[in-house]
Amino acid sequence: MIIVYDSNTGVGKRFAESLGYPTQSIKEKLDAPCILITRNAGAGKIPWSTKSFIKKHQGLIKGFVNNGDSIKHGKTYCGATPLIIEKYGLVHIRNIDQGGNDEDIQAVQEFLESC
Ligand SMILES: Cc1cc2nc3c(=O)[nH]c(=O)nc-3n(C[C@H](O)[C@H](O)[C@H](O)COP(=O)(O)O)c2cc1C
Repeated sequence: MIIVYDSNTGVGKRFAESLGYPTQSIKEKLDAPCILITRNAGAGKIPWSTKSFIKKHQGLIKGFVNNGDSIKHGKTYCGATPLIIEKYGLVHIRNIDQGGNDEDIQAVQEFLESC
């Protein structure tokens, strides 16, 4: 299982790297099952990079984690999550706030172990 991250400023990348599995950027070629660590773009939207990745690799994505910011974007906190579920039907593993914490790492590791 690969952890793929769509990360602009590196917060999501750091979370991906804390999980103890191989990681790669959303920009790299993918040829194995993965989970996706994504983020939110303007006002709770799905980043275009995540949209195009999902369209290309939908069958390989076992679930996704959304990394939001409840302090700066309280009203649209992790607003991309319901949109991704509705539009693409992906399994939602968890929302994490500002890069997540130990509990988030443990929960996502448990999901990975169950795959
Ligand atoms: C332009 C912009 C809009 C954002 N909008 C939201 C939002 O609506 N809801 C939310 O929870 N987080 C929002 N965020 C926060 C990102 O999801 C958060 O900063 C995340 O850590 C970015 O991941 P990265 O550091 O891996 O790039 C936004 C961030 C930016 C830069």
